[in-house]
Amino acid sequence: MKVVSVVGARPQLVKLAPIAAAFARTDHQHVIVHTGQHYDVNLSDVFFSGLGIPDPDVHLGIGSGSHGAQTGRILEAIDPVLARESPDWVLVYGDTNSTLAGAVSAVKQHLKVAHLEAGLRSFNRRMPEEHNRVLTDHAADLLLAPTEEALRHLANEGLAERSVLSGDVMVDVCLRVRDSVLAGEHPQPVLPAGVDPNEPYLLATLHRAENTDDPARLAALVEALAGLPVPVALLAHPRLVAKAQEQGLKLAQGALHVGDPVGYAAMIAAVLGSVGVVTDSGGLQKEAYLLARPCTTLRSETEWLETMAGDWNRLVPDPALLDADEWVRIATRPSPDAPQGEPFGDGRAADRVVEFLAERAGPAASA
Ligand code: UD1
Repeated sequence: MKVVSVVGARPQLVKLAPIAAAFARTDHQHVIVHTGQHYDVNLSDVFFSGLGIPDPDVHLGIGSGSHGAQTGRILEAIDPVLARESPDWVLVYGDTNSTLAGAVSAVKQHLKVAHLEAGLRSFNRRMPEEHNRVLTDHAADLLLAPTEEALRHLANEGLAERSVLSGDVMVDVCLRVRDSVLAGEHPQPVLPAGVDPNEPYLLATLHRAENTDDPARLAALVEALAGLPVPVALLAHPRLVAKAQEQGLKLAQGALHVGDPVGYAAMIAAVLGSVGVVTDSGGLQKEAYLLARPCTTLRSETEWLETMAGDWNRLVPDPALLDADEWVRIATRPSPDAPQGEPFGDGRAADRVVEFLAERAGPAASA
């Protein structure tokens, strides 16, 4: 069997790591196509080197742009690559513009598409990721759902026959790297200057368009973080830095200490060293849950409802609407006593994904 993985943005590289490792344990051929949606060293290269992912076989070098321009450029560039490779499966990951473009190019060429992390829904149609996931799920031939909840969403949309429960490959990589961090195989967490790793700190990230692109909202979120009574290590995505600069907003103020994004092991180490996480990232909500740190999510909904059980994750759509003490109490709450369970699977999802693909390799329904 030959499978082409299409990736391009940071969270996809994390998911690619266990998949590439699972393929390497078989005789199947695995071709990696990087769209180039993310191109900064600390959003892309560090994941290949840090997680031991083989270099991409093809790099499309697309870069940034509006949603239409970026998606369109990827589509145009990937068409001939998929035609040439003619794989048994095109595997697309998550919900970025690279996911949608890879899926559309493949179905138009009658190549079978599998969607990893299928069935996630925020039901917020203003999110670019929501358009990408819904469209990709409906285009794909095989939907690899990470959770029972995702499987239910797919069934509700009439997609049950194409759906399977694979578990979440992010558990595979998160637990493996956690163990290596705890075994002392990585250096101390790289935290922004001014944050002492031996004293309590909160770890924060903020990058979603809904939070960064509206100046009033971004200013309110920064003010809320800056007012917390413990140091906040903000690992700033380039989008956040660019938007703050455009808006004349200073990120480093009050409790807020700003650093660059870090590689995967450094991120896991930073979560493990923290007393809690404040974020709008989907992946980090789950990592906090798996690593038993309380998470506060600066959004009005989450695709990872399971993380909310037992108060491990709390949604705060707008800290400014809360009483200041209430905001501090939520963001700095201690770890709950409730055990987390295994809603995201057992850490063997990637092998299962490869098995599902191999069992179902064959001509496309439309061929
Ligand atoms: C994308 C995904 C989002 C995911 C996130 C993870 C979409 C629609 N969104 O958002 O789901 O959570 O990746 O990081 O695909 N930039 C750089 N260097 C880079 C990449 C981006 O400076 O290497 C800056 C550019 O100013 C760019 C902006 O970040 O315009 C946004 O990048 P883009 O890839 O469009 O989306 P993300 O915000 O990263």
